[in-house]
Amino acid sequence: MIGILYRKLLRPVLFCFDPDKVHKAFVSLGKILGEFAVGRWFIGWLYDYPGQKLEKKIDGVVHRTPIGLAAGFDYNGELANILPYMTFGSEEVGSVTARPCPGNPKPRLRRMVKSKALVVYKGLKNQGVDRIIARLKKARPRGGFVLGISIAKTNDRESVGLEKGIEDYYYSLKRLTEEQVGDFYTINISCPNVHGGEDFSSPERLEKLLTRLRTIKHDKPMYAKMPINQDWDSFNKMLKVIDKTGLHGVVIGNLNKNYDEAPYPEEAPNEYRGGLSGSLCRTRSTELIRQTRSNWGDRFTIIGCGGILTAEDAIEKLEAGADLLQLITGMIFHGPHLMKNICRKLEKKGSKARS
Ligand SMILES: Cc1cc2nc3c(=O)[nH]c(=O)nc-3n(C[C@H](O)[C@H](O)[C@H](O)COP(=O)(O)O)c2cc1C
Repeated sequence: MIGILYRKLLRPVLFCFDPDKVHKAFVSLGKILGEFAVGRWFIGWLYDYPGQKLEKKIDGVVHRTPIGLAAGFDYNGELANILPYMTFGSEEVGSVTARPCPGNPKPRLRRMVKSKALVVYKGLKNQGVDRIIARLKKARPRGGFVLGISIAKTNDRESVGLEKGIEDYYYSLKRLTEEQVGDFYTINISCPNVHGGEDFSSPERLEKLLTRLRTIKHDKPMYAKMPINQDWDSFNKMLKVIDKTGLHGVVIGNLNKNYDEAPYPEEAPNEYRGGLSGSLCRTRSTELIRQTRSNWGDRFTIIGCGGILTAEDAIEKLEAGADLLQLITGMIFHGPHLMKNICRKLEKKGSKARS
């Protein structure tokens, strides 16, 4: 019922407005609701999956549900108090960067309604790691909610170049670990929309980055956010580096950069230079999850992300080998009850499998 109301009434109205503005309004609303017990109760009443049956312990961290909010929605860490009441077991704040980033020139976001996708050209807009740490230290998420932090390289001229880029990531991770903020860290090595390009997806550069980051001592799990446009051979070379440098796992994956895969090209005109989300990531990310699991067994924790628009898409990713899931676009197209629906289906599937 809530789903039908969202699709038939609320979504048509929301989709009349600029997506960046709608996003901003929802973050402000979520922030306010999260501050008050009555707001948290109301959202929980509408959108929370009440069971504990889907709890999973991954790399020593207990996730109440396997569904996380992917990096890019709560980029300033303002929603940690409310997301646990929307069925999420975790979120990735950010991506955060060493210095604040104003984001790319507008337009930064465009809906592709027929394709159930978004064109994303945000350029890592965020307030910078220090300000975000201060905010997250005051956040009081419900017990059992897992706070991941996605770290990227500041999107400005100062961080272009290998050494400068590495030191930029290093600063953010150092500050987060010193302040003990975050239950896991994801190194975003695949952001398509930044100054100097996506320069840590070559194995040599990736090894330099991860080797440097491993000199920071902490006991939290670390993951790498993978690109999805490589062929298996190049992707596997990155996995070898990730294995060698001792990260716990991978998020598969980031946005799709191949506009040729858009079934309705008019929805992604050239002036929107960005990555494509939603259904345009689904097949690529699921195939890479499957190949990673079948080639590497249990070596990596795999967080499956990209194009989870229905419970069936979530099941497909889990069956391909994902341990946990993350999403954004599905929530925008199908509404905030999507996560609860997925959990209900997972629970049903689990109890059928047991009986
Ligand atoms: C508006 C928006 C902003 C994003 N920003 C980031 C980011 O800062 N860091 C990152 O690692 N991924 C970012 N992403 C990619 C998502 O985390 C995710 O990998 C991608 O959207 C595929 O998932 P989905 O199909 O469920 O949206 C962003 C995605 C969207 C839609």
